[in-house]
Amino acid sequence: MPPPARRHRFEDQEAPRASIATILAGRALVNERLQSIEIAIDEHGRIHSLGKVRGGGPRHDVGDSVILPAATDLHVHLREPGGPAEAETIASGTIAAAAGGVALVGEMPNTRPPVTDPDVLREKESRVRGHAAVDVLLYASAGGARDLAALARVAGAFKLYLSPTTGIGSPPPPSEVPPLLEALGALGLPLSVHAEDPRLFGAGGAPKGLAEWDAYRPLRAERAALETLRSAPAALRLHVAHVTSASEIPSLRAQGVSFEVTPHHLLLSERSPLAAWGKVNPPLRSDAERAALWAAFQAGEVPCVASDHAPHPASDKDLPFPRAPSGVPGVETMLPLLLARVRAGELRLPTLVRAACDRPARWFGQPIGRIAPGHRAHLVVVDFRRRTRIEGRRLHSACGWTPFEGFEAIFPVEHYQDGVRIVEAGEYVGGPSGRVVRPEFAPGAAPG
Ligand code: DOR
Ligand code: ZN
Repeated sequence: MPPPARRHRFEDQEAPRASIATILAGRALVNERLQSIEIAIDEHGRIHSLGKVRGGGPRHDVGDSVILPAATDLHVHLREPGGPAEAETIASGTIAAAAGGVALVGEMPNTRPPVTDPDVLREKESRVRGHAAVDVLLYASAGGARDLAALARVAGAFKLYLSPTTGIGSPPPPSEVPPLLEALGALGLPLSVHAEDPRLFGAGGAPKGLAEWDAYRPLRAERAALETLRSAPAALRLHVAHVTSASEIPSLRAQGVSFEVTPHHLLLSERSPLAAWGKVNPPLRSDAERAALWAAFQAGEVPCVASDHAPHPASDKDLPFPRAPSGVPGVETMLPLLLARVRAGELRLPTLVRAACDRPARWFGQPIGRIAPGHRAHLVVVDFRRRTRIEGRRLHSACGWTPFEGFEAIFPVEHYQDGVRIVEAGEYVGGPSGRVVRPEFAPGAAPG
């Protein structure tokens, strides 16, 4: 008869002494609950065990602060290669991410040249190595690629633009979208879609303000593009970028599609006094639409929040509205803005952590985003008493401005990457230790 299986209690999950490099102690969000706990981190930077650790490495108690998993931002534009460097570089944008509690960014392919072949992707990889402060997953462009299978072997995910936007002149014609989705479904990589149907964009005159921009690229263009995506094969790990329409959320959920909303669509509207500094694709919507999106987010109906960090030089955003480029920065402010909403009692902490940390990491197939044994120790420490006001000139992005000037925020006081501190007392102290990561899906695992 085999011996009875040894039952491990929580506290029993102890590592052999030598392999524990650090112990973090304090209140941590584990299994969606704040619990007083010790987190043992092994020499490879993985969370080894949770509970009372006897012996082991140096112990750091965070006191009254709270330990959370660091965030994953599925949607950033680091503008490299091709620039402009006054907007961002891989170094500046990932330092901004680190300071904002983001451990992993998904870097979009609308750089110059666009990432439509494996050589361009590899060149981008070499720019990340030795320069990035946090981990980077590189998207390849599904539109305009000659050999999708070759790209799928090197990229981390695909991006498909259904409408023109910065760096994207001509999206694939609508008739080519269903076969493209079919082909992508067979390749196994996640696909994020910019869902606006340009056939429904207003013709004629140049919009001169945010309300006119909303009318020019209206909600119905987003709805029409989402309709096109209903033909997607079930095998495709489909994700819709920057959803702005709360009324589409029930059907996206029913379809089992992943999607993100952005902090700017949650917190800003076409009535915000930003002029072209708030010009973005898809546009900021009416305040009623924004409020409905926020209500859905609060209710936990939105799987992911992502910044769509799209910096442009201040001199370009200062141009007359029709000539100013679309896009706003946001990777550094995403988590801090939403932590301030938690502190204000408007958002539950587990809802935020699910949307900013856990679900995005799962969609990227990464063992991060939860405080759980086996996960990489990408963690942040937050002191909810340390409220500040956002100032663009103090942020780390090269662009030097933010659409959230003066908004209340709570920046992490510490950020650990694989158990090593890269932000200390709110200051970035790391080096270029970010890695290029690719999805680690179990073979045959279902999308979602
Ligand atoms: O506003 C936007 N800016 N939307 C996009 O889709 C692209 C982005 C950029 O790269 O600037
Ligand atoms: Zn984008």
